[in-house]
Amino acid sequence: MATATGELVRRHRWTQLYPELGQGPIPTEPYVSEEIYQREIELIFKKSWLRVARVEEVPEPGSYKVKRLHFANTAIIIVRAKDGVVRAFHNVCSHRGNTVVTETGDETFGHNKSAVLPCRFHGWVYGADGTLVSVPEEDRFYSCFERGHNGLTPVATDVWEGFVFINLDPRPLHTLAEFLGGYAGHFGGYPYAALTECYSYTTYLDCNWKIGHDSFSEAYHVTTIHAGSFPNVFSTGLADVQFFGPHRTCAVCLNLTQAPTKVAVVAGSVHRGSLVQKAAERRMLPPSINPSGRHDFAFELSTLFPNLLLHVAEGIWFTHQFWPIARNRTIWEGKYYVRAAQTNSQRWALEYAQVLQRNAWLEDTQTMENTQKALESGAKRYLNLQDEEILIRHNAHVLADRLAAAE
Ligand code: FES
Ligand SMILES: [Fe+2]
Repeated sequence: MATATGELVRRHRWTQLYPELGQGPIPTEPYVSEEIYQREIELIFKKSWLRVARVEEVPEPGSYKVKRLHFANTAIIIVRAKDGVVRAFHNVCSHRGNTVVTETGDETFGHNKSAVLPCRFHGWVYGADGTLVSVPEEDRFYSCFERGHNGLTPVATDVWEGFVFINLDPRPLHTLAEFLGGYAGHFGGYPYAALTECYSYTTYLDCNWKIGHDSFSEAYHVTTIHAGSFPNVFSTGLADVQFFGPHRTCAVCLNLTQAPTKVAVVAGSVHRGSLVQKAAERRMLPPSINPSGRHDFAFELSTLFPNLLLHVAEGIWFTHQFWPIARNRTIWEGKYYVRAAQTNSQRWALEYAQVLQRNAWLEDTQTMENTQKALESGAKRYLNLQDEEILIRHNAHVLADRLAAAE
């Protein structure tokens, strides 16, 4: 009897540790309801700090990135000014409301050597610090017009570990540091900028943003969904689950009974680019990650609330980000960073690792639209979560609590 009880404790370890999350099923309504979607946008996405760039994407004064945020019907210019500071502004001209930077997609990059942003409609020119510096035929405007009051509309901006965040709330309730809380300490100190080779993927998915989030927030699916890309490579259980307010993290571990393929061993010996093999040494991970030094540690999987999943491993870090467009439509962005190859054999090793990783992400995203389609039927009112799906349970609780608190 004692053994059976002990076994149950082990199997239910996360809800034993976090009993406030309960053990019951979670409702399906938030995945399909238009009303809940609209409230998530207004009360969460328009009030949270959101990662929109890396500082390396705007390296010099005059470098800019324009990021369209469909959920808010706006686009944000993230631009580095002559003083070296990265700021953000709505991409809307103060004259007649045209876009200042002409967008060529959901992300537009550019560089202006003079560190100015000219609007091509009538030639108003803004400094990269957002001030309106020049208006053609300014003397034809009236005395009520003040150039000093007609700069670009600023957006709250801050940077943590090279990640550029914005907050669409004109008066954010919290600073970025307050918003990050203990998450910043847990993930700070990793050499994000040193891993310069980035493999980047983007696609539109016909699903709610939370379906994307959930699909990357457990390892229960690895033996089924990833039987093709990573057969028996990862353990289905999590380790070191922790919550930092609305944020969450855990470790994903390797299944060490499974020998890697010969080609994976060769690639891994040439260059660190794959999560499949254990890292030979610990050089990059801060002490807060894998604190007990588990020998089966593969990578840390976290959600920076609401829509960024940040993962770190020795020699590799990667993100998933889900941008809502509609109740049942989402942009998924996957970015995978490794140390740049120095030799042809290292290039081969990285490409080999990335093909496997790309396949795994295709396997992941394949389920998302099917899940949405099925839930739209209304046939199921609840989802049943097991103990190792604790991150999904936490997200459901955080969102429900936030929406309820706003009522
Ligand atoms: S709308 Fe921008 S200069 Fe006229
Ligand atoms: Fe997966």
